Amino acid sequence: MRPRHWLAGAISLVMAATAFHAGAQSPAAPGDPLAGSTPREFEEFRLGLDDFREIEEPGEGLGPLFNGTGCASCHNVPAIGGGSPMTELRVGGRHADGSFREVGGTTLFQLFSIPNHRCQAVIPAEATVIARRTSVPLFGAGLIEAIADETLLALEDPFDRDRDGISGRAAIVTDVASGQRRVGRFGWKAQIATLLTFAGDAYTNEMGITNDLFPDEPHGGISPAQMRECDLVKDPEDLVDPRTGKRAIDNFEAFMKFLAPPARGTITAEARIGEQVFADVGCASCHTPALMTGANRSASLNRQTVALFSDLLLHDVGTGDGIVQGAAQPDEIRTPALWGLRFRRTLMHDGGSASLDDAILRHGGEAAGVIERFRTTTAPLRRALRAFLDSL
Ligand code: HEC
Ligand code: HEC
Repeated sequence: MRPRHWLAGAISLVMAATAFHAGAQSPAAPGDPLAGSTPREFEEFRLGLDDFREIEEPGEGLGPLFNGTGCASCHNVPAIGGGSPMTELRVGGRHADGSFREVGGTTLFQLFSIPNHRCQAVIPAEATVIARRTSVPLFGAGLIEAIADETLLALEDPFDRDRDGISGRAAIVTDVASGQRRVGRFGWKAQIATLLTFAGDAYTNEMGITNDLFPDEPHGGISPAQMRECDLVKDPEDLVDPRTGKRAIDNFEAFMKFLAPPARGTITAEARIGEQVFADVGCASCHTPALMTGANRSASLNRQTVALFSDLLLHDVGTGDGIVQGAAQPDEIRTPALWGLRFRRTLMHDGGSASLDDAILRHGGEAAGVIERFRTTTAPLRRALRAFLDSL
């Protein structure tokens, strides 16, 4: 965190406020704040955006191990706060019976290090499970956070009692920021429940900037001696800014909380037919078209419809990456939201699919019956389904 000159901050606030009001009538463009945010919330959003796009340096705590130098490095398509084709590495090993085990006390191995590569992480030979994860767009993240746990628990069907072959499970995790047992919803494994916790986790694990919530430097693949040599800034590195009373992680939280969801693209007649196909073949069994937020102190988050196209539950669709994380088993992945799909360049948790058809046909496991119906649907209806997905 570099202190900013107050005047520069004030000018950017005024400019942004003008831009915000000019665009207030039109639907949100990617990167805009949530419609209906109060001036105070808008100010918090702006401060958060400033920190979110800041490039960190070693003197400010970056590293020793890191994946990126700023949140925006991996959240920038098609605007700051979006996704990215960038992938990072999750690593593990196996016990003799084939079950998962952590290697070196972590599953995340950072790709880069400071200084001079003396602290480059080495991936040990016993790491036989190697998984890639692509970043997730943050548009509408505050609305996702505001969905009550009970709403997600009501969608669960872990034992497939309705015998449709689909058995979504809520990921119950301990939220580090609040200490409470909550339903995880963020990350490909639904491993985190709140934006503040994700901000703390990402600041430490993506950038090596330790904070109150995650005070220990990531250390996968380096020795304690290397850590002593390379970790030159006292932890925690993210301190309260005396002028604002906020830590950077509080600012990241505010930016994500008030980031508008992606507006729908053009809805053609074909896309409308495709929406019906999406429901008929059963995509909507997991990609739940809309959920409601609960009661919230912010009017812009209070009892809002969230058209995310996800149940935020864990499913086995045959694409699991072999990693145990939070409450998720090796074969489970959280249903991704499909809003803003037209902006995503690489699809699926590993970024391994370049086209919609490829992403759809990779679904198996619980989705096998649905995909079989998709395959046997007529070509014009499949085209309509694609037109619908392209309108999201
Ligand atoms: C090196 C790339 C990289 C950087 C830097 C990065 N992220 Fe991410 N982000 C990712 C990846 C990859 C995921 C998916 C993680 C997973 O589930 O394993 C992700 C997921 C997230 C999510 C979950 C969104 C959802 O709906 O599931 C949040 C929130 C988030 N990042 C916030 C941040 C913040 C805040 C920062 C800066 C402190 C940051 N990220 C920096 C790559 C990055
Ligand atoms: C059983 C639950 C389930 C059903 C049914 C299902 N999906 Fe999915 N979908 C998932 C999960 C889980 C993933 C993430 C898989 C991964 O990343 O490995 C996913 C990923 C996707 C993605 C990639 C999104 C992204 O951001 O990368 C698309 C597109 C998609 N599904 C569309 C569909 C369509 C269209 C149908 C119907 C033909 C469908 N899904 C049916 C659970 C489901």
